[in-house]
Amino acid sequence: MSTPNLLIHQAQILLPNGEFLLGDVQVRDGQITQVAPTIAPSDDDRQIEAEGLTLLPGVIDPQVHFREPGLEHKEDLFTASCACAKGGVTSFLEMPNTRPLTTTQAALDDKLQRAAQKCLVNYGFFIGATVENLPDLRTAQPTPGIKIFMGSMKGPLLIDHEAALEPIFATGDRLIAVHAENQARIEQRRQQFAGITDPAIHSQIQDNQAALEATQLALKLSRKYQRRLHILHLSTAEEAELLRQDKPAWVTAEVTPQHLLLNTSAYATIGTLAQMNPPLRSPHDNAVLWQALLEGVIDFIATDHAPHTLTEKAQPYPNSPSGMPGVETSLPLMLTQAKQGRCTVAQVANWMSTAVARAYGIPNKGRIEPGYDADLVLVDLMTERPVLRSELLTKCGWSPFEGWSLTGWPVVTIVGGQVVYERCQLHLDVRGKPLTFAPAS
Ligand code: DOR
Repeated sequence: MSTPNLLIHQAQILLPNGEFLLGDVQVRDGQITQVAPTIAPSDDDRQIEAEGLTLLPGVIDPQVHFREPGLEHKEDLFTASCACAKGGVTSFLEMPNTRPLTTTQAALDDKLQRAAQKCLVNYGFFIGATVENLPDLRTAQPTPGIKIFMGSMKGPLLIDHEAALEPIFATGDRLIAVHAENQARIEQRRQQFAGITDPAIHSQIQDNQAALEATQLALKLSRKYQRRLHILHLSTAEEAELLRQDKPAWVTAEVTPQHLLLNTSAYATIGTLAQMNPPLRSPHDNAVLWQALLEGVIDFIATDHAPHTLTEKAQPYPNSPSGMPGVETSLPLMLTQAKQGRCTVAQVANWMSTAVARAYGIPNKGRIEPGYDADLVLVDLMTERPVLRSELLTKCGWSPFEGWSLTGWPVVTIVGGQVVYERCQLHLDVRGKPLTFAPAS
């Protein structure tokens, strides 16, 4: 599909220095070519009127579960990428717990082929570590890194012993992203609390200590081998404090909007829809995570979009699966926080785009600057609208944030210079591209 010439007219443009410019952005061949107070339109420019709207770099969501192949009754790459386009997410990094697991080059190639056919936004796929795929972990391409489930997983993707983790940290130099929960502690506490069906027990079974112990182990191994480590969905005050005291330069961490904005009180209102791994924590954890994000101890934001159907979620705990969707709500949720004065719009764009591109070495993304890819989102910071189940595009069809009144909803989303979402309409013929990742420096 040919990429049209675009002129975005009179937007509040977020510049790389964090300031805003009221002006125009010119796009040619999928890249930003000019940013200026006024740019004269060419005859073949498609003009996008942006008066009253704010232009941000497209969101890069670095942790999602899109369920294809194998679990398409929950979500697939088409429905998920439609939800991304609506949510202003122009690129995503997807996790390996599909069926088959993404643990070989062949499985990675299969996902890339499927994505090329059906994804409306840009895509990258993690390679999952098992105890026997060290060679694949070294050579698989392209991938943002190796995903290790230290806990909260069944089957070959669970690596819950130091002796099995060690060779992975010792071999190669690409990024390792960890789901850090101590499986032994979780199993012991599961027995202790067996028989309880109130989902609130989930946060006690998989408690703060379980997360802290696994994060400590991952940090120990990362230090030993000076290995690039990323800690996924950091959820506890204790882990944030640990990193605040001593975070090696080669370590990054992320937090989800749910761990910032929801806590254990959500079980009383939304039951098992509030169940995720690592679990929701206390209001104190919310506050410490926020502070860590503001201080730069936590580097960026991911949704951990992990859809399950309402029928699956309706099973009584512990048979109800863990996970909640997020790509459609993450940007307005965070921009609403900015509007309320908890952070700035520029910080939100940094946490949801610029810092992610930097951490994963994704070239030419995350900034509105000539030479960068035209992955952009125009948001409306004035209008407030509620999250409505009837408007959701994710196949699972629910959100833990239903009823929340949010501002900063995307009005236009642009992927590689192509308008993919525009005033509630999707352009279904748009396709994203595979992301590339610079080797660890
Ligand atoms: O809550 C979660 N659900 N956490 C994970 O790490 C996995 C995910 C899933 O795939 O459902």
